Amino acid sequence: MKAILYEPAGDAGQLYIDEVDNPRPTPSQVVLHVAATALNRADLLQREGKYPVPPGANPILGLEVAGTVIEVGSDVKGFEVGDNVCALVNGGGYAQQIAVDYRMLLKLPENLSFTKAAAIPEVFLTAYQALHWIARVQPSDTVLIHAGASGVGTAAIQLAKLAGALPIVTASGHKHEAVDELGAARSIDYHAEEFQEAVMDFTAGKGADIIIDFVGGPYLNQNLACCATDARIVSLAALGGARVADFSMAPFLRKRIQLTGSTMRSRTDAYRQRLTADFRREIWPRFSDGTLTAVVDTIYDWEDVAEAHRYMASNGNVGKIVLTIGLD
Ligand SMILES: NC(=O)c1ccc[n+]([C@@H]2O[C@H](COP(=O)([O-])OP(=O)(O)OC[C@H]3O[C@@H](n4cnc5c(N)ncnc54)[C@H](OP(=O)(O)O)[C@@H]3O)[C@@H](O)[C@H]2O)c1
Repeated sequence: MKAILYEPAGDAGQLYIDEVDNPRPTPSQVVLHVAATALNRADLLQREGKYPVPPGANPILGLEVAGTVIEVGSDVKGFEVGDNVCALVNGGGYAQQIAVDYRMLLKLPENLSFTKAAAIPEVFLTAYQALHWIARVQPSDTVLIHAGASGVGTAAIQLAKLAGALPIVTASGHKHEAVDELGAARSIDYHAEEFQEAVMDFTAGKGADIIIDFVGGPYLNQNLACCATDARIVSLAALGGARVADFSMAPFLRKRIQLTGSTMRSRTDAYRQRLTADFRREIWPRFSDGTLTAVVDTIYDWEDVAEAHRYMASNGNVGKIVLTIGLD
């Protein structure tokens, strides 16, 4: 089969398509013919040599896929050849075929295309984990979602709304119409206003109950300043840098703030399977009934992967950038 490779690590120009060995499935895996995959920021970092592949993970880029089952292992339950599915994967999505444990598979409803389905697993499972498993979102919560127009942000807005909570976001001003349509109750252009003041103003001085953060060090003090009492901050990335110049412990104590970090790729297979099982039961049906949607910004043929990576690096997208691989 063919896959997208890079050698050595570097800029997007290093990406190329070449022959690799076909996947060798274990008894609990299926082999998928990959119709589409989607980009994640981690792909850009890995390509640049800044995201070491965790031990045991597939070194090929790509953290999510949609496609058709073409082979089934002897221990697989509930799936057969010909099923159309999507899945969160631990690398290997930028390839014509991939072996995936059957417990990670989500069966596609009739109304979900491969290109939409490929845009769901990584960002929706990440947002679901952050809101429900980590922050224990409640219907009364105000949820501040930074990078609200990112792939994960567009998923988090919809899931917060579905939980009955009130999502508010930070995003570049020209992306506000899109995030408002998804359900953001207040969109803050962080280039033009101090987000912590806007949050305190919007919540009449109470602050946000949950903050989903991707910016990191430069936002920590402002996040603490606009937290409500008993707030939960979930840190998922450090797009603005990891270091904090100066900060005080006082707000943590005074407001009983919980600060938690997580990366999906460092989780065990068993954890990701449990997360997928909860997501399949509680959230997945809402894609069939139209309550939830994958926000797809652009679809590229996989021959144009370098252009797709450059586009993501430019911060131009609202939602997901998809690569078609074997879309018939
Ligand atoms: N921890 C995990 O398990 C996990 C899982 C998935 C993704 N992530 C991380 O989550 C982040 C979002 O991922 P994604 O794939 O959804 O990203 P994405 O679609 O590429 O969107 C990223 C957006 O973040 C905003 N942004 C970029 N740099 C910023 C900065 N310095 N300050 C403020 N905003 C900034 C930009 O939007 P604006 O134009 O609105 O500024 C940009 O378009 C990435 O860092 C990714 O690595 C973490």
